[in-house]
Amino acid sequence: MLPVDPTKKLSFTRCISDGDLVIVYEKYDTMKAVEVCAGSVLGNRFGVFKHSDWIGKQFGSKVFSSKGGFVYLLAPTPELWTLVLSHRTQILYIADISFVIMFLELVPGCLVLESGTGSGSLTTSLARAVAPTGHVYTFDFHEQRAVSAREDFEKTGLSNLVTVRVRDIQGEGFPDEFSGRADSVFLDLPQPWLAIPSAAKMLKQDGVLCSFSPCIEQVQRASETMRSSFTGRLFDAVISFCAL
Ligand SMILES: C[S@@+](CC[C@H](N)C(=O)[O-])C[C@H]1O[C@@H](n2cnc3c(N)ncnc32)[C@H](O)[C@@H]1O
Repeated sequence: MLPVDPTKKLSFTRCISDGDLVIVYEKYDTMKAVEVCAGSVLGNRFGVFKHSDWIGKQFGSKVFSSKGGFVYLLAPTPELWTLVLSHRTQILYIADISFVIMFLELVPGCLVLESGTGSGSLTTSLARAVAPTGHVYTFDFHEQRAVSAREDFEKTGLSNLVTVRVRDIQGEGFPDEFSGRADSVFLDLPQPWLAIPSAAKMLKQDGVLCSFSPCIEQVQRASETMRSSFTGRLFDAVISFCAL
């Protein structure tokens, strides 16, 4: 369970239970997500670790194998999840995620639209930022990626905060039901300029659009479309930036 509800926030005083997701930390570049299951073991170069030994220990604990090796059991925060999730696409990392969350002005209760979902790296942080009363609707046109993302949000305890839908956002735009309701829209699409007119319709007055593109040509074209789509309306911030 990720720290999505302030009253249930994970801390080093919360103990690990059967069924919890933990991040097994060997060293800074060797971590993996493991679902705790009382009858299972984890084997690695440090030995064999019984999950049953982990149950009841606090997150952050150092645990030992049968041959004296050790690992740390960390809580699955969005920051760590981004480092261990299975990469089905290019993903956003912490430096960009923190920038996006700040400029989208996300606070608990916000309604956020995102496309594409990709591997759900950004989505996980969006969900924590809007919890416990907000919601993230994330859209990807790739059916299997949507299925895998849903499974991940179940595992990380975010499924009540995130809805994954299959939709071609560049072709069809966002669904009309969100028109004028979104606090923020985030785009990580190959041709974001095709989705920007729809994104503009979805935003509330003072809503924020952020489009993330790895190439300067994409940024230029997206910026031009933003200028024309937002004419006559005042928004606090219209951001297009380039992660070079
Ligand atoms: C780079 S990935 C997004 C990564 C994501 N931001 C993350 O941090 O994990 C781009 C995603 O956009 C999706 N995509 C591309 N074109 C799309 C379209 N027309 N409509 C919806 N999704 C699309 C792709 O399937 C891919 O999963």
